[in-house]
Amino acid sequence: MDVRIEPVRRDDFSEMIRLADLTLPDRMNLHELKKYIELFPELIFKATHEGRLIGFGCAGIDMYQTTGWLLFSNVHQDYQGKGIGKRLVEARLQALRQFSTLQQVLVTVSETNIKSIRALEAFGFVLAQKEEDYYGTGKQRNIMTLPVLAMPSLAPKAAGVSINPVL
Ligand SMILES: CC(C)(COP(=O)(O)OP(=O)(O)OC[C@H]1O[C@@H](n2cnc3c(N)ncnc32)[C@H](O)[C@@H]1OP(=O)(O)O)[C@@H](O)C(=O)NCCC(=O)NCCS
Repeated sequence: MDVRIEPVRRDDFSEMIRLADLTLPDRMNLHELKKYIELFPELIFKATHEGRLIGFGCAGIDMYQTTGWLLFSNVHQDYQGKGIGKRLVEARLQALRQFSTLQQVLVTVSETNIKSIRALEAFGFVLAQKEEDYYGTGKQRNIMTLPVLAMPSLAPKAAGVSINPVL
């Protein structure tokens, strides 16, 4: 299957929101997505199949450009489990690596989101900390980390991941 991974364009907004509403309802909204694209235009990638948007992933970086964040990702249900989620992780890690000051990449994960956790572990991410009550009383968040020093050893575990050239 020819799935392309490419940087998003501003006119992808509506399709992206439609997809996000299907894969993870009530999590992403147009305003948040627009802010991501304004702040991190080179850190947001889409997956397409035969011209149709079937997934996208967002990343960001802190103001000191030392900590990158994987912020949101999704793949259309019909295409899940085919390695596309991992290709979106790889695209964002490659883009973040362009920052020479980068020290680590962090991501918030739900402990029940096995596919997300597996995709991240494939690149060497490990659970770093749990923040109690982050989403409200009794609702914790888990943060996984990937130190930049661990990145060069990513390639063998993420074998088969390839990104189409930037258009
Ligand atoms: C999380 C998500 C982006 C992953 O994308 P994907 O294309 O399905 O993931 P991949 O095919 O690259 O697989 C990633 C890992 O999950 C594993 N996996 C896939 N389907 C699985 C399943 N049904 N059960 C358990 N593991 C599964 C894969 O084997 C792979 O792990 P491996 O490297 O150890 O083999 C996608 O499932 C999704 O959109 N989920 C809904 C939205 C969401 O939760 N987003 C993340 C939070 S923002």
